[in-house]
Amino acid sequence: MKFDTPAGQNPIDQLKVVGRPTDRIDGKFKTTGTAPYAYERHDVAPHQAYGYIVGSAIAKGRITSMDLSAAKAAPGVVTIVSTLDMPKLPVSKRNIAPLFGGAEIDHYHQAIALVVAETFEQARAAANLVRVQYARTPGRFDFAALAPTAPLEGGSSGEGSGAPPVDRVGNFEGAFAAAPVKLDATYTTPDETHAMMEPFASIAAWQGDKVTVWTSNQMITWAKEDLAKTLSISADNVRIDSPYIGGGFGGKLFLRTDATLAALGAKASGRPVKVAMQRPLMINNSTHRSATIQRIRIGATRDGTITAIAHESTSGNLPHGKPETAVSQTKLLYAGANRLTSMRLAVMDLPEGNAMRAPGEAPGLMALEIAMDEMAEKLGMDPIDFRVKNDTQVDPEKPERKYSQRQLIECMRQGADRFGWSKRNPKPAQVRDGQWLIGMGMAAGFRNNMLTKSGAKVSLDHRGVVTVRTDMTDIGTGTYTIIAQTAAEMMGLPIDRVVVLLGDSDFPASAGSGGQWGANNSTAGVYAACIKLRETVAQKLGFNSGDVEFSGGKVRAGNRSVALGDAAKGGDIHVEDHIEYGDLGKQYQQSTFAGHFVEAAVNAYTGETRIRRMLAVCAAGRILNPKSARSQVIGAMTMGVGAALMEELAVDKRFGFFVNHDLATYEVPVHADIPHQEVIFLDEADAISSPMKAKGVGELGICGVGAAIANAVYNATGVRVRDYPITLDKHLDRLPAIA
Ligand code: MOS
Repeated sequence: MKFDTPAGQNPIDQLKVVGRPTDRIDGKFKTTGTAPYAYERHDVAPHQAYGYIVGSAIAKGRITSMDLSAAKAAPGVVTIVSTLDMPKLPVSKRNIAPLFGGAEIDHYHQAIALVVAETFEQARAAANLVRVQYARTPGRFDFAALAPTAPLEGGSSGEGSGAPPVDRVGNFEGAFAAAPVKLDATYTTPDETHAMMEPFASIAAWQGDKVTVWTSNQMITWAKEDLAKTLSISADNVRIDSPYIGGGFGGKLFLRTDATLAALGAKASGRPVKVAMQRPLMINNSTHRSATIQRIRIGATRDGTITAIAHESTSGNLPHGKPETAVSQTKLLYAGANRLTSMRLAVMDLPEGNAMRAPGEAPGLMALEIAMDEMAEKLGMDPIDFRVKNDTQVDPEKPERKYSQRQLIECMRQGADRFGWSKRNPKPAQVRDGQWLIGMGMAAGFRNNMLTKSGAKVSLDHRGVVTVRTDMTDIGTGTYTIIAQTAAEMMGLPIDRVVVLLGDSDFPASAGSGGQWGANNSTAGVYAACIKLRETVAQKLGFNSGDVEFSGGKVRAGNRSVALGDAAKGGDIHVEDHIEYGDLGKQYQQSTFAGHFVEAAVNAYTGETRIRRMLAVCAAGRILNPKSARSQVIGAMTMGVGAALMEELAVDKRFGFFVNHDLATYEVPVHADIPHQEVIFLDEADAISSPMKAKGVGELGICGVGAAIANAVYNATGVRVRDYPITLDKHLDRLPAIA
């Protein structure tokens, strides 16, 4: 089905099942431990051996020798696959750092061997006996030192945010110079890691030339293509299966060494091999969100009209890597006749930078939305009024492109009402509660809505049970449930008459889970397949009229009513279709919006920050399941708290690695850090986005949160911190006098 004109009335609009706060259909499996994650799939292949990854102890240089003799002689060892056994493996389309092969080392903890043994403990013990000699060469590890000379570089995150090296509208410099009120400030965000609960994990088994990999991956089709490329085999010989995933946040968008080495280890040992990447290896072996230095300049008239806006961002990455696209939202969020955005990329030898939840916008808004707060203060305006004044209903760079829907003002206004914004004292450091300094802050949230092809197969049996198959994934987001809701709505069934099977590359290729595009596109693909199933059923049952109704497990037209399952009396019916898109995405700017509100308390003595309340008001098209959507948003808000207050990879600039490479030292929020959180969804349906009229919320929830916290902290203390995370050392010596 091609979606190239705005959606009219369709069966989803009934909202009998879709749009309801439905419990997860996979919830009972997860809470009873019966949903098998990749490493637990003991039953899929017999006689599994355990692989343990050895990571490089240097960041740059080459291996001069590797002594495996002691490791090979250790108890239980089956085989050892060494990087010296093979040339550098081809780098797949979506990887930047080579995953394995050869003596060259491009980053710390690059995989250099897989020890395969009968038990995990034996593999680990033997891995400790591998002796490696290296020749180190100097590397580029100091981002702050490299940034000033970094060249311009454009790029896209591949996820809907991107920018050319330089983009200009009007005359920024002239307008900025002439502006009566202006801000010129620089903000920094650190390197961050996904820190998902489930590590990278895979089991691989070969049958002749064919390999099956039971793994944990967000994008099944990408994994299939990229593993084939890395192993130099045909994609037809690769099967990927990933039905349950314990979080990804972008870390599992790409093929990683667990899958690659499980396949190589299984080949070498002639039996299935399972590999879970050790937690201490995950951070330097995989991808991370790159640190940024962002300069923002805003010029405005005295009444608060932006006349000039510039956002220039620098980040670092390995050779052939792309910049963090932190300027992308600044191209779209606010009006202003004279505009400049640019990106610079420092080539470095730290591990690969790549997508992490809302790449681009998440760190970009952490800077832009502090700048907007600072500018509002200079103008003596309320921060919401300043944003409202500079709202735009068109793409400010290409005014002929309207937003399909944009209710940012409504998000901020409703949020203000609900949060009690009118009680905020605009003068900072005025409100106290015992030893705590209290502040309120807000920020706009913004993230694009990506349209991408997605397919599904739907089947009907004689009992009237519908089974959906698609290689779409559920990374903890609720995909199983919204897909079941979609098929139930389309076929006129209760949700318990729908079976959903996901994550298998033998199923039709889907959008996958990334860039908050999963929900809208994957359900639209199911919608397309169900339209076909409805036509097939109607035809089989001899209904010729156009207005056949599917409801209550029956198919009706006129006064004739037949059980849905009767259509499959002669055998199961299978149909397949996909959604693909015309150019509505070009004609219209499609985005999602939020107003984020935070109340923070800063201890006047110690400088520690505690979040007291958080509210997000979201406008993101039709909300397919308010319960799972809310979970997505509060999870993202929580991640925003981490980004604002604690998350930071510490770089060892001499030896070139992220020092805090485990969950003991890379701090993420815990329950005690998270206060009352509230989420409100505006009632929307965007007919431009798809037949589902939905968009995404999984990344919108983090976009803007960091700045809302920073602005609340400033309102509490009167000390502006422009360097994330906002740890107590950054404002302690500037807090208001205690006595
Ligand atoms: Mo997202 S960074 O595509 O998981």
